[in-house]
Amino acid sequence: MRDALGDVQSALVLGGGSEIALATVRKLVERRTRTVVLAARRPDELTPAAEELRAAGADTVECLGFDAEDGVEAHAALVDDVFGRHGDIDLVLVAAGVLGDQERAASDARAARALVETNFSGLVSAIVPCAERLQAQGHGTLCVLSTVAGERPRRSNFVYGASKAGLDAFAQGLGDRLAGTGVRVLVVRPGFVHTRMTEGLDAAPLATTPEKVAEAIIDGIASGADTVWAPPALRYVMSVLRHVPRPIFRRLPM
Ligand SMILES: NC(=O)c1ccc[n+]([C@@H]2O[C@H](COP(=O)([O-])OP(=O)(O)OC[C@H]3O[C@@H](n4cnc5c(N)ncnc54)[C@H](OP(=O)(O)O)[C@@H]3O)[C@@H](O)[C@H]2O)c1
Repeated sequence: MRDALGDVQSALVLGGGSEIALATVRKLVERRTRTVVLAARRPDELTPAAEELRAAGADTVECLGFDAEDGVEAHAALVDDVFGRHGDIDLVLVAAGVLGDQERAASDARAARALVETNFSGLVSAIVPCAERLQAQGHGTLCVLSTVAGERPRRSNFVYGASKAGLDAFAQGLGDRLAGTGVRVLVVRPGFVHTRMTEGLDAAPLATTPEKVAEAIIDGIASGADTVWAPPALRYVMSVLRHVPRPIFRRLPM
């Protein structure tokens, strides 16, 4: 249950090793989040991050196994386990995702399907039981890391963009379905963020940092927003780009 000041007390992160997620959790712990569950493909590698969070004031930090490619039953069991042992969870942060190899995914059906499964269907299968649990407890925020690339997929990374567009649409619809239940869904649309995911790539205009995205997430949770862009100016950039005619859009250097 969020405390008297509205701060998050407990958080479950799906994709617990994500740099954006860890930056967010660090800021949450500074503010008084006391229980953190980091669910990731290789939970042992998160031991240093867990120790850092404990040193910063978290009472309980757990690292559990989670793979978006696991089946529906494994996802349901993980969610049951976490909510069963920790009770109320105030925030579920869905951060897992892969950029993938666009050139390969555009021409190799297996690669394209793997990208869509990790970024979309695999996460949907974990989000549904989380949403059910949040609804049963009557409060909480489900925060989903989407991207501006999902708002209008670009030729250069449309498989990733399409997978995130699916996730974004699912999260929006779920948020509408849960309106009035006490559960909120926050869709986060960062632009280019300097993390492992973008290492070696040329930074896009308005590139930002995990810490800045973390601030946008925390502000979004506090304000009850449905959607946040990081940086906020991307909202206006995208509202223009969304309407650029396709013959022109496909010639833009991006
Ligand atoms: N960086 C950007 O420019 C940017 C922009 C917009 C949106 N985003 C989104 O923000 C989210 C976090 O990305 P990030 O920038 O923080 O990059 P990151 O540090 O690479 O985080 C991505 C995380 O996803 C995890 N992951 C990948 N495949 C998985 C799977 N099958 N099951 C479970 N976890 C899996 C990775 O785990 P491993 O450690 O096991 O590889 C990694 O911890 C992603 O959803 C991404 O699409 C990023």
